[in-house]
Amino acid sequence: MIKKIGVLTSGGDAPGMNAAIRGVVITGIKLGIEMFGIKNGFLGLYENRIQKLNVLNVSNIINKGGTFLGTSRFPKFKKKVNRIIAIKNLQKKNIDALVVIGGDGSYVGAQKLSSMGLSCVSIPSTIDNDIVGTDYTIGYYTALETIVKSIDKIRDTSYSHNRIAIVEIMGRKCGHLTLLSSIAAGCEFLIIPETKIEKEKIVINIMKKLNKNKKSFIIVITENLYNVKNLAKYIEKKTKKETRATILGHVQRGGSPVVYDRVLATRMSSYAVKILIHGWSGRCIGIRNEKIVHSDIEKSLNKRKKNSTQYWLNLSKKLC
Ligand code: ADP
Ligand code: F6P
Repeated sequence: MIKKIGVLTSGGDAPGMNAAIRGVVITGIKLGIEMFGIKNGFLGLYENRIQKLNVLNVSNIINKGGTFLGTSRFPKFKKKVNRIIAIKNLQKKNIDALVVIGGDGSYVGAQKLSSMGLSCVSIPSTIDNDIVGTDYTIGYYTALETIVKSIDKIRDTSYSHNRIAIVEIMGRKCGHLTLLSSIAAGCEFLIIPETKIEKEKIVINIMKKLNKNKKSFIIVITENLYNVKNLAKYIEKKTKKETRATILGHVQRGGSPVVYDRVLATRMSSYAVKILIHGWSGRCIGIRNEKIVHSDIEKSLNKRKKNSTQYWLNLSKKLC
């Protein structure tokens, strides 16, 4: 029977992680379980930075961005010898189970701990929305709001100057933030990993718009596809149209979570604790068709997220 549960946040922080920690801790305490917070993700687990949490520790955080437990990228966790140390640290405190809140990298860590005998459940939280087994990840909608508000502002200035604006958006290898924000901000061009084209072709497409008397427009591009500053210079040279590039960067990861992310975090976290108590391990929580579900972490890691990309691409093409 599970008596003590630990919780950590890992990988890139995302708005709503605090709401998820809160949900895990309060649900556990109400079910008579002792709850523990681990600082800075798997690094803190390895360094034994584990502290008991009560309800007061998680009050006044539901509205805060980031993660009050801290997070880290800790590649040394790939080594089994370091995971053994981490598990021993939990055993010293008789902690029976762990909730991991993070992205797909954190899922791998959770799956490996689970295969070593620790009861472990993961909750999807990353702005990228690139995790299989869930329609949405905690943090995605808040990041979209931030991105769309930023593009709206860029539109004001590029329209006033009759300029082309390039906006680089996060997502690692996933174009979802770019795709949905381009629809919401009415962007005229969209380039995501699935639709990457040669820069010569970008210019041809721009010329078509310019020939239709379009004076200013916005091109959104997923990070890691081009050097957008150089691309802006190239486009300016070829089209004779002033072009500026903005890299939105880490502003996309911050800020108070929107209602959708807070509610999603609360639903998923409460469910995660309940399935742990019912004896599940190696599972990841998701939302599918508005229902909270759980599935096998390993299977979810081996699939590629479809996420209706083609549907959104078609919609965006019709409206650009
Ligand atoms: P995210 O969870 O946001 O995708 P990362 O890819 O940085 O972020 O992964 C978070 C952490 O998960 C890593 O820093 C590492 O500690 C752990 N992790 C990632 N891959 C593995 C792996 N193959 N084995 C064990 N732990 C891993
Ligand atoms: O996974 C979230 C994310 O913000 C990605 O969109 C981005 O590629 C990456 O993290 C940036 O990581 P870091 O903050 O370590 O530079």
